[in-house]
Amino acid sequence: MWDDLHAHHADIADRRFETLLDRDRARDFSVGLGGVLFDYSKTNIDATGRALLIGLLEASGLAERRAAMFAGDRINETEGRAVLHTALRNLDGGPVLVDGVDVMPGVRDTLARMEALARAVRDGGMRGAGGPITDVVNIGIGGSDLGPRMGTLALAPYHDGPRCHFVANVDPADLGGVLAVCDPATTLVIVASKTFTTIETMTNAAAAKAWMGAAVADPGAQFVALSSAVDRAQAFGIAAERVFGFEDWVGGRYSMWGPIGLSMMIAIGPAHFRAFLRGGAAMDAHFRTAPWLRNMPAMLALTGIWHNQICGHATRAVLPYDNRLGRLPAYLQQLEMESNGKRISMDGQVLATHSGPIVWGEPGTNGQHAFYQLIHQGTQVVPCEFLVAARGHEPQMQDQHRLLVANCLAQSEALMRGRSQDEARAKIADRFDGAELERQAAHRVFPGNRPSTTLAYPQLTPEILGNIIALYEHRVFVEGVVLGINSYDQWGVELGKELATALQPIVAGADASGKDGSTAGLVDFLRKSGL
Ligand code: F6P
Repeated sequence: MWDDLHAHHADIADRRFETLLDRDRARDFSVGLGGVLFDYSKTNIDATGRALLIGLLEASGLAERRAAMFAGDRINETEGRAVLHTALRNLDGGPVLVDGVDVMPGVRDTLARMEALARAVRDGGMRGAGGPITDVVNIGIGGSDLGPRMGTLALAPYHDGPRCHFVANVDPADLGGVLAVCDPATTLVIVASKTFTTIETMTNAAAAKAWMGAAVADPGAQFVALSSAVDRAQAFGIAAERVFGFEDWVGGRYSMWGPIGLSMMIAIGPAHFRAFLRGGAAMDAHFRTAPWLRNMPAMLALTGIWHNQICGHATRAVLPYDNRLGRLPAYLQQLEMESNGKRISMDGQVLATHSGPIVWGEPGTNGQHAFYQLIHQGTQVVPCEFLVAARGHEPQMQDQHRLLVANCLAQSEALMRGRSQDEARAKIADRFDGAELERQAAHRVFPGNRPSTTLAYPQLTPEILGNIIALYEHRVFVEGVVLGINSYDQWGVELGKELATALQPIVAGADASGKDGSTAGLVDFLRKSGL
């Protein structure tokens, strides 16, 4: 299968895919779900390539793996865990069994408790020592930060609760900057940590507690914990009724649908949070039932495999023409790279192909004035994934929104069409001639034939955000299955954590001579500089 795909790619690599693109192809090489459209027609995937890709996907056993995931089997084999973040949004669905036990009553119960707390914070029923809660500070990192941070920004038009702040970095600048603008007497601190051991979060949580303790008599009363280590959260001093637990079948980077989403729920309210869950559930139902050709996560994943593993493009850019999705690239960096940035396959062998690509991006149009130069004329091809809404949340500025949309469409067209030497010459022939004309024209040539996909939707509502995030989650799963990877562990983050722990006494003054020369030299320099 892989060989067939590589052979097909070799045959068509130089073809200009623009020549394929009539209105029929645009219809055929796109997938819709509700109001969302995924268009992958501006790529070099043709009917033959697509059939081979779908063959690859079928041969990977994806259908069985998908069934196993939704059935609660322990598909996260290195950690012996089920993978059931989808249960967190399965509100209208049936039972979900883990070891024969239905987890849905627990999911519903926790959601109801979250909603009660969110309502109390929003309507003043829950107060700080100095009055109603004005500020919520979510302290968490990685999956305990990126999801609610990204989602709260994305849904800012629905934000009618207290101000929300997010602290992740152990750098005191992060916590210090947030606490400087909060009043301890009216602030609620949410400690979000699945394990309740993460050093950055524990350090920031202790510092926040000390800050609050200096101003109010019972700081623990203004703390909430989100964790699967309920006992550790209680030992930290947070009463059981304000600890929201979740099970080990929710991976950190897949956790914003449950307790980890509490800050976002407080910001936008329980009803909008439920709409977000419904959007995710709609994508789940689609992923489980749509034939591969009409299955959005499957086709998004296959487009990624085509560009990375077959064409050899090492990175992909996520480019939201939707300013409030400004944190989506960072969110996807964890989702995709922590899930599929692996070198060992599920059967313990070194992978024969590259694994997940490097994911990066920025909102358009800002990126246009920064790195798009490389995207258009650099020597490496960067497949681009555009996202764009038909409407913004500023109806009085729809004309300005149309300018945004025009920019988005123009970029994918420019990447595809490029500009030939003849066209470049014609544009400047009135200013240059002879050899200078040729030289100047060469700088204005765009090679084109650069692939992109576009995800278009009516408006960034909670439901649409739910669609989008679940779409990317399932895309990661499909890519992982096709590559033979366990997408749900993350052993690659462990070594650095261990070494940081070992270095703590050294940066505090202990002897550094056992370290390599570079590390010891840096410690020496930093000590002399005031460490
Ligand atoms: O170090 C990586 C990681 O384990 C992520 O997978 C996780 O999202 C993050 O740290 C935070 O972990 P926790 O929620 O347990 O504090």
